[in-house]
Amino acid sequence: ASLSPFQNEAFLDFTLAENKRAMEAALTKVAGLLGREYDMVVGGRRLKTEGKIESVNPARPKQVVGVHQRAEAEHAEGAVEAARAAFVGWSRVPVAERAELLLKASGLIRERKFEFCAWLTLEVGKNWAEADADVGETIDFLEFYAREALKLDGAVTPIQMPGERNRLRYIPLGVGAVIPPWNFPFAIMAGMTAAAIVCGNTVVLKPSVDAPTIAAEFMKLLEEVGLPDGVVNFCPGEGPGFGSALVAHPQVRFISFTGSKAVGLEIHERAAKTQPGQIFIKRTVLEMGGKDAIIVAADCDLDAAVEGVAASAFGFNGQKCSACSRAIVDASVYDAFLERLQVRVDSIKVGDPAENFAAGPVISEKAYQRVLSYLEVAKSEGRVLNGGHAVETAEGGYYVAPTVVADVAPTARLAQEEIFGPVLAVIKSTSLDEALAIANNTEYGLTGAIYAGTREALDQASEEFHVGNLYLNRKCTGAMVGAHPFGGFNMSGTDSKAGGPDYLLLFTQAKSVAEKV
Ligand code: SER
Repeated sequence: ASLSPFQNEAFLDFTLAENKRAMEAALTKVAGLLGREYDMVVGGRRLKTEGKIESVNPARPKQVVGVHQRAEAEHAEGAVEAARAAFVGWSRVPVAERAELLLKASGLIRERKFEFCAWLTLEVGKNWAEADADVGETIDFLEFYAREALKLDGAVTPIQMPGERNRLRYIPLGVGAVIPPWNFPFAIMAGMTAAAIVCGNTVVLKPSVDAPTIAAEFMKLLEEVGLPDGVVNFCPGEGPGFGSALVAHPQVRFISFTGSKAVGLEIHERAAKTQPGQIFIKRTVLEMGGKDAIIVAADCDLDAAVEGVAASAFGFNGQKCSACSRAIVDASVYDAFLERLQVRVDSIKVGDPAENFAAGPVISEKAYQRVLSYLEVAKSEGRVLNGGHAVETAEGGYYVAPTVVADVAPTARLAQEEIFGPVLAVIKSTSLDEALAIANNTEYGLTGAIYAGTREALDQASEEFHVGNLYLNRKCTGAMVGAHPFGGFNMSGTDSKAGGPDYLLLFTQAKSVAEKV
């Protein structure tokens, strides 16, 4: 009750010498912690498996960030059992106490902000500002869901029946599987986990194999603040073995997933199949891909549009589900836009994110090969204005030059398939109606933006641009907790709206209790 109103965590200003020094010191400190082995944690017990997962720095693939256990299908049973055992007690812990643990965790993260930034830089290749945004969003999710859980606990029915006391109680579902992505490996991982547990659920957390170390560090933090054993069970593993077994387990009531469309749909299908002994319908919360567009209308502020497109397309090398991968530009400003965009993108320096270069590597060898294969497609589907090639470094990092491809057809592969890398397709349109039709013509519907100078154009886009997160006259990445509840339409997912007022409902079931008085 005495909690201050929620406020977004402020971004760090790295132009201040003091912050620059602190980040450099944190990078040095964390560099000294690389390569350690982390345990699987099940019911508070630390376990080792035969197989291991090695997480490497994508800027220097020879540098091992952390060595992790590799849970296999046979480990699902023990992990779910531990979560089930913990559920009995945890679901009865008062909400205020559960929320307090989230707040304690957020307090510690705030204290160790630079260190967590350094982990993100070294494990997934985020530059300083991107790392800071990830850490800030982690803090925001913890602070926000703590407050939302308390609010939900105080819910009342809209009507009180005369002669009755009517209550609506939001109770937890039970054991859940939390399967987060590697691209916001702190914020989304911690947010998905925190939302589930603050409602009284217990979970098996299977971090991405590309970013298990930051998740292990979060797990350590949860233990430090006194989260009871078994509430979060930390199990790195591959999707096909352990992940599949977890999703199919008859005692797993919900699956909270963020990642690719292919994996999301597979989870959805697997979860739909009732297993022997299963007495409930599994719930899936699936946040998947995007083919997000920014419309540049005739009468807009062209410099702002160029800046917004460049930031949205190339921030964290296009590895955001919210990233702009299509710019749909009105014919009347098309040439001027391309000219300015080319200059802007040319100014993006590629290099080691630890040294705070604007553009870093893509996440893995596999991602690198995938993006390079799209650069081949680019040659035949448009005119390559910037990039179009890999950038080689002595350390063998997975660098791809920021790539702009002009004159792409709306139905081309570059305009339809999610590439998840620094590749932007530019498409020409001749009217706002046409631009909106092109924007909406993919299987996705996550984010979108329009730069326009008239109220009519903005209003029309508000009505007709069919995306979960629409931005008017600003970039389409960087959703802020609380202000921009996040989630997409169509094949982008179940529109869960993380960081919004409805998110916790996904991890609860409502029980109506009427008492005669
Ligand atoms: N929430 C992130 C953004 O808005 C994407 O996951 O960029």
